[in-house]
Amino acid sequence: MTKYMIHGGKPLYGEIDISGAKNAAVAILPAALLVNGVCRIENIPQISDVSLVLDILHELGADIRVVNRNTMDIDCSRIHNSRASYDIMRKIRASYYVFGSLLGRFGNAEVAMPGGCDFGVRPIDQHIKGFAAMGANINVQGGFISASTPEGRLTGTQIYLDVVSVGATINIMLGASRAKGMTIIENAAKEPHVVDVANFLNSMGADIMGAGTDVIKVRGVDQMRGGFYSIIPDQIEAGTYMTAVAAAGGEVLVKNVIPKHLECITAKLEEMGVEIKELDDAVIVRRDKPLHRANVKTMPYPGFPTDMQPQIVACLCLAQGASVVTEGVWDNRYRYVDEFKRLGADIRVDGKIAVIEGVDHLTGAPIRACDLRAGAAMVVAGLAATGTTEIDCVYHIERGYEDIVKKLRGVGADISVISCPDAAEKQQVG
Ligand code: EPZ
Repeated sequence: MTKYMIHGGKPLYGEIDISGAKNAAVAILPAALLVNGVCRIENIPQISDVSLVLDILHELGADIRVVNRNTMDIDCSRIHNSRASYDIMRKIRASYYVFGSLLGRFGNAEVAMPGGCDFGVRPIDQHIKGFAAMGANINVQGGFISASTPEGRLTGTQIYLDVVSVGATINIMLGASRAKGMTIIENAAKEPHVVDVANFLNSMGADIMGAGTDVIKVRGVDQMRGGFYSIIPDQIEAGTYMTAVAAAGGEVLVKNVIPKHLECITAKLEEMGVEIKELDDAVIVRRDKPLHRANVKTMPYPGFPTDMQPQIVACLCLAQGASVVTEGVWDNRYRYVDEFKRLGADIRVDGKIAVIEGVDHLTGAPIRACDLRAGAAMVVAGLAATGTTEIDCVYHIERGYEDIVKKLRGVGADISVISCPDAAEKQQVG
């Protein structure tokens, strides 16, 4: 078991390179199951969630060749198995994309119910509703979900999502890519990674229009062929480092980003007094004055992302005045607040609302990461806090941040990994 030790209170200066987007990668890799041929995929982040998805593909019979650190050739031509086992599937939420892809390819699938970060109830009823409307008979029993289709193929139809769901939008797109006829997804999610998955599928021969708007049309094709694809930069990783500079101060060039994807984060940080300059594929983030208070409401894209909520709260803890944060996506995403209080933060939570009274400074303490983004926010808070912050359970953070310690050390942060041989290795549930 490892921990991060941070000696905080020092501004950050230098450059950080952003990796490929986790939430695009964990969908694009399973999407290769739909393709007969070699998919060369570039800019794959080296994170543990990606390793889990690759383990699932390997178990299903995919031929995976590492080309270099962030590039792989994935060939699912010889996949024989449409059943994925419990042990890996339960560890990762995105395993539901394996279900959608297998169902699209074979017309039947059986997988263990997905796991993932615990933010309260995480239903998949909209995924099920979509596949049922496309003719699948779905059965959820004994921790497994299975589906079969009478004609051995899903059939296109019109599906209206009752909630804007990233997972359901992508999953239905996956299944629909090789369905019979046209599928229309209404009230679709518009996140950058939804568009990235559609672009990947189209470059492998799918016929998808409208990704990035709230109506997506997918004309099913009989076959998909191999090709090349490069995953977009990670919006949330970039946003996390932007908040690190906002909290700790300094000036950092955040490179390899799509500034348009960061607009919702940039606008909020600017409102808080952070200076941000957009370049073609980078942003310069500078903060040398006190932070102002701000209110934040998380919403589906292009709103402020829920996956940046804990990190912006870390900054608001140090802003002048009281801020109100409203969590608009998940029921229970403030479980980290008690850990922040150990650092001296003044936060009150009532349901989906948090009121943050800014304090002069945070003080380092031992704290524990409880999920991926909360863990990242603890790093942000630790970088700003005076004294030493020791973060436990960092395996949560390593699910989604490639080389976080190395990247932060590159901008002058005093952060290191320490190993605790006595502690038992925790089961990973990403
Ligand atoms: C994706 O989760 C991301 N995960 C999450 O990021 C992110 O927080 C979330 O989208 C929202 O942006 C991946 O992409 C792997 P949803 P997902 O379906 O797809 C409700 C991170 O830290 N809902 O968009 O599971 C649901 O309860 C992770 O990187 C239903 O009611 O989220 C929630 O309130 C954590 N029925 C809302 O919709 C459904 O069938 C949005 O969920 C599906 C969802």
